[in-house]
Amino acid sequence: MSEPSRNYTNPRQIEAEITDLAFDGKAVGQVGGKITFFDSGLPGETVSGEITRKKARYNYARVLQVLVKSPDRISAPCPHFDICGGCTWQDLNYERQLFYKRKQVIDCLKHIGHLGDIPVDEIIGANEQFFYRNKMEFSMNSEGATGFVLGLHRRGHFDRIFNVEHCLLQSEISNQIANWFRRFVDDKKIPVYDIIDHSGFIRFLVIREGKHTNQVMLNLVTAEGEMPFKDELINKITALVPSVTTIVQNINAAKANIARGDYERILYGPGYIEEKLLDYTFRIYPNSFFQTNTFQAERLYGLIYDFLEPRKDDLLLDLYCGAGTIGICASGLVGSVIGVELEPSAIRAARENAALNNINNIAFHIDSVQDILMQKNGVLNDATCVVIDPPRAGLHPKALKRLAELAYSRLVYVSCNPATFARDAAYLVGAGYAITKITPVDMFPHTMHIELVAALKR
Ligand SMILES: C[S@@+](CC[C@H](N)C(=O)[O-])C[C@H]1O[C@@H](n2cnc3c(N)ncnc32)[C@H](O)[C@@H]1O
Repeated sequence: MSEPSRNYTNPRQIEAEITDLAFDGKAVGQVGGKITFFDSGLPGETVSGEITRKKARYNYARVLQVLVKSPDRISAPCPHFDICGGCTWQDLNYERQLFYKRKQVIDCLKHIGHLGDIPVDEIIGANEQFFYRNKMEFSMNSEGATGFVLGLHRRGHFDRIFNVEHCLLQSEISNQIANWFRRFVDDKKIPVYDIIDHSGFIRFLVIREGKHTNQVMLNLVTAEGEMPFKDELINKITALVPSVTTIVQNINAAKANIARGDYERILYGPGYIEEKLLDYTFRIYPNSFFQTNTFQAERLYGLIYDFLEPRKDDLLLDLYCGAGTIGICASGLVGSVIGVELEPSAIRAARENAALNNINNIAFHIDSVQDILMQKNGVLNDATCVVIDPPRAGLHPKALKRLAELAYSRLVYVSCNPATFARDAAYLVGAGYAITKITPVDMFPHTMHIELVAALKR
């Protein structure tokens, strides 16, 4: 962002003081008495900008200049910060990032859940504020003057990519691989997939890395067809980066622009990597969900088990269990565990992971949480405590109603969306639960994402 200056003449320019950061990371100010959401700017700053979209009750605007800087503003260390759509809070010092994340949890509880009297603990910040991700998805495109690009999305553009030379999110190895792969695809003239006319072949490069095992997976998401120059690619990349232990081609023949295939071909190695969480080992397949920040996931899980107060005779329900990591890591603390998850491939991984760790007191069900909870006298009735970790949309209304009826005495809610958490928590409190503790956890430094763990008791 350019240095402060008041020498602008554009009559459409507006000026505002930024007073807050909104839940989605936008900066909040007022222009002519109307709430205006700016694409950047920090609380305490005065900015000039222009309105980009007008709505009945609020506007959106783009910042052109910061006229008065906040003392919390720092120089973002990432060389791509000005154009990258990734870490939009990198220019806010980390202590203040944590302050605003906790504030957003408090605001959601107050305004959405009308639970303003519930105290929220200090947020658990990350020790590893850079190079913390174990998964990165790099997009590719053919961009007019620039030609082939491989990297991340430009801020504010779903269809424009820039070349990432040095990202601070995953690891230096990941940068090395991405830069090498860009040159390889360009040199070999492998056609890049075009999201408009759906021609071309190569779509995404996904790199996954075991932070505790140093095993690296390359997942090449492509259209239908054999990966060209496959042997040369394998030989060269494994010689350059020996920690690459597996390479998989994921075939996405659909038009949907997602880094996930319908089926896969293992090109090299076993087709998975391993990662450790707490004392357990997990296999991660190209399409399996796995917590993206290994280090903070360990702290998050530690908090879950503290809040759960597990007993050796407990039957624990791990609802929305993904690849079973919460239940598997808890299996030594309780009598037995039942995990429930909709996605069959995640349950396959969960069962395999349980076997890999010699765990015999855990069972998994492929089902929707709302459907399995609705079964009267079903498999979940004898449970004594529950962990729920739903997607951003929060609990399905049927699941919420049934959880309230089943009245489990100890319930831990893990949420990646304080707004839907506040909505669900309000319902559960209305049905007789008390929230005894809420702790936010920063899983994604420099972004506006917030995770939290809450203990609910009957
Ligand atoms: C936030 S992830 C939970 C991950 C897991 N607990 C962990 O820590 O790795 C949410 C999971 O819920 C699953 N899911 C989404 N809707 C569901 C539903 N209605 N019933 C069961 N599982 C669902 C998703 O497939 C996803 O694996």
